[in-house]
Amino acid sequence: MTRSLSALDRRQMIGLGAAATVAVAAAAPLRAAPAVAPFLWGAATAGHQVEGNNVNADIWLLEQVKPTIFAEPSGDACDSLHRWREDVAIVKALGLNCYRFSVEWSRIEPAPGQFSQACLDHYARIVDHCRDQGLAPVVTLNHFTTPRWFAAAGGWENPDAPDLFARYCGRVARAIAAGVSHALTFNEPNLALGGRWAIHPPPQAMLDAVAACCAAAAKASGSDRFSLLNAGDPAPMIPGVTAAHVAARAAIRAARSDLPIGMSLAIPDNVAVGKDSAIERKRAEVYGPFFAVMDKDDFIGVQTYGRAYVGADSDVDPPADAPKRPGGGEWFPAAVGNVVRYAHEATGLPVMVTENGIDAADDTERERFIPEAVASVEAARRDGVPVLGYIHWSLLDNFEWMSGYGPKFGLVSVDRQTFKRTVKPSAKQLGAIARAGGVQEG
Ligand code: BGC
Repeated sequence: MTRSLSALDRRQMIGLGAAATVAVAAAAPLRAAPAVAPFLWGAATAGHQVEGNNVNADIWLLEQVKPTIFAEPSGDACDSLHRWREDVAIVKALGLNCYRFSVEWSRIEPAPGQFSQACLDHYARIVDHCRDQGLAPVVTLNHFTTPRWFAAAGGWENPDAPDLFARYCGRVARAIAAGVSHALTFNEPNLALGGRWAIHPPPQAMLDAVAACCAAAAKASGSDRFSLLNAGDPAPMIPGVTAAHVAARAAIRAARSDLPIGMSLAIPDNVAVGKDSAIERKRAEVYGPFFAVMDKDDFIGVQTYGRAYVGADSDVDPPADAPKRPGGGEWFPAAVGNVVRYAHEATGLPVMVTENGIDAADDTERERFIPEAVASVEAARRDGVPVLGYIHWSLLDNFEWMSGYGPKFGLVSVDRQTFKRTVKPSAKQLGAIARAGGVQEG
């Protein structure tokens, strides 16, 4: 049985479409190069989702054209381009010791070969400020968005894509790598491949809508193409992405040879359904191409938002008796612990949870989610899996791509008019867990 469209959560749709102060103690400051790295407890953001007015990005254009597949434009987002110090202050005040954020390629290189020193300095200031505050900066080089010019030149299908990405990553690394704790080349480059299993076969109307949106963006760019990994068929783009990872890793290492480098993959807790489950074929298709180029990486980032039940040729609905969330969807916070175990077993690499979270307007649901999720990671650690950290998605309620500002993944809410940040109880809870070193006795 294939999953019905209505049974899908909004995350799966992304891939198919291809100073608030808190009165709590801060974590002990990190040394620049700790002999024994502390476990990282963090919260994450991504440039396009929080900075605002990211006008040179491919996705900005897709939001603006008609027809668009986006519920609303990103606009000012959370204005973190200007309010990033407030964001860092919240992370610190909560008692976390890590902040994950992404640098925006389209700001750094708004035209091919034209690099903005001012923009590189901006991100260097964020890294330095995190260090000054005792926070480990985990930096993503590509969190879905690329420059408009890159998409209009064929995106990851352009034979020059790996070199272009590596050139950009090298420039960023030379500007900021000294203070960075861990670098991720790509965020979930496998999301669209996973989406093909979740929604199988993809409805023609949805494919047509994506194609029409990209065609409008191509026209607006004066090109015959506008190519994005998360819009359209990802298969022809994967070789470009994997080659780009390898080239970027070399470029970053050339700037700082001891900076730990990895890539984050979207990995649900896959469960085999029936004797003819295609779970191994799914793993080979959706993770295999990336695992194959991560052999010289220092760690793997995993991003988990639940379970996927894998039938004979696609994901299928959860069992009728599976525990459910109040609004539907399965309740299984411990998915992340199983994924941590799987990722280590499959790659041999240390694992960092670079995203884990829940779309919950009711924060009490997130408060129930966090301890169970963290406990599942701790259990994996106790069983010997090397886990580097747990980074929650997301620090802020932010721009959730095609769904706009509706979904609420944040530990902190953001007023859409004033941008005032309000720390939710779940944020304080995660901070308390971090300061205690976990939820369970060791
Ligand atoms: C992405 C985030 C996104 C989150 C929740 C992940 O796929 O990396 O950008 O906001 O899931 O949907």
